[in-house]
Amino acid sequence: MSYDPSTGKSNTAKSNTGRSLGDKSLRVGILTGGGDCPGLNAVIRAVVRKAEREYGDSVIGFKDGWKGLLENESRLLDIESLRGTLPRGGTIIGTSRVQPYMFEDGVARVSDTVRRHSLDALIVIGGEGTLSVAYEIHKEGILPVIGVPKTIDNDIACTEMTFGFQTAVQIAVDAIDRLHTTAESHHRVMIVEVMGRHVGHIATWTGIAGGATMILVPEQPFDINEVASILQHRHETNRYASVVVVAEGAQPIPGTFELPDKEVDEYGHVKLGGIGSIIASELEKRTGMDTRVTVLGHIQRGGTPNAFDRVLCSRFGVAAIDAVHEGVMGEMVALQSGNITKVPLGDAVAGLKGITDELWQTAKVFFPPLPSD
Ligand code: F6P
Repeated sequence: MSYDPSTGKSNTAKSNTGRSLGDKSLRVGILTGGGDCPGLNAVIRAVVRKAEREYGDSVIGFKDGWKGLLENESRLLDIESLRGTLPRGGTIIGTSRVQPYMFEDGVARVSDTVRRHSLDALIVIGGEGTLSVAYEIHKEGILPVIGVPKTIDNDIACTEMTFGFQTAVQIAVDAIDRLHTTAESHHRVMIVEVMGRHVGHIATWTGIAGGATMILVPEQPFDINEVASILQHRHETNRYASVVVVAEGAQPIPGTFELPDKEVDEYGHVKLGGIGSIIASELEKRTGMDTRVTVLGHIQRGGTPNAFDRVLCSRFGVAAIDAVHEGVMGEMVALQSGNITKVPLGDAVAGLKGITDELWQTAKVFFPPLPSD
């Protein structure tokens, strides 16, 4: 199948048997990159199921994300090898944050692996970082690339939902349901730190569904003095327990107090986590209220995908392999108005998707009033 990255189209001319080249059996690579997420295996399973059964394709799984293409480490994925993986968390082909542009000869090494395996297309399952690399590889014109939006953070643009998000929210809501009763017994403030590096989708959904007292998200810098006086007022007026949901990337209004500098890992990825404890100690200092912290961390990312995500992953996987055969590449499968569609990868990675104003205004309806109100 020949490919023109400037148009994003593969050559779908008729072969001499009269079949469209889009109907040919293909060799399709697949990788999972970045942080893991519930549902990765469900996407792989869906791709393989349709690829093998309907198109007669071979699907080659590259190990540990782009690293597998750089180091030519792969395994053949067939329907038999995917049995039992629909509910299984993590990714059976592994993941990492290694990517070709970290190495001078990275793109050449990827090209070489593509050639050795005679790959016709590559399906890249990842979040913002992995999909940005997929977009660059698409522009290099090495082979057709199609993206699948993964991340519990739900921050990929052009899709209403990434897979894994709904599962993460359910895990966090289950935790909050438990924290309410212990908070009430001890008349405490419970700070619950959830993931959400740049955006507050998990925090806001979790806070609304879990009946949180307040929610702090990266998109809405908070005033710690205001949070303290709202909680104090609430506890002084006969409500003796509060649950505050904090996204790990939440930021104080500049000048109110400073967060310590964060460590950066070998891929330039800032290591977050810990803001819950900082907020708890700032609140205790200001109010003297008994405060405890729960950091949900990677519990939100591990384990089985919920029913919604299993269906979404199955739809994304089927749409991705169909897209390969339609010859439309350099795109990402997406959920829009409840339907599976495709969007240009360039648009999907152009910026992150934050929470909408409507969602935030809805969340705020359930916050306690300011003492002066
Ligand atoms: O990208 C999803 C995410 O869950 C972020 O919310 C979080 O900051 C990050 O992954 C942590 O990833 P890791 O611990 O794997 O570096």
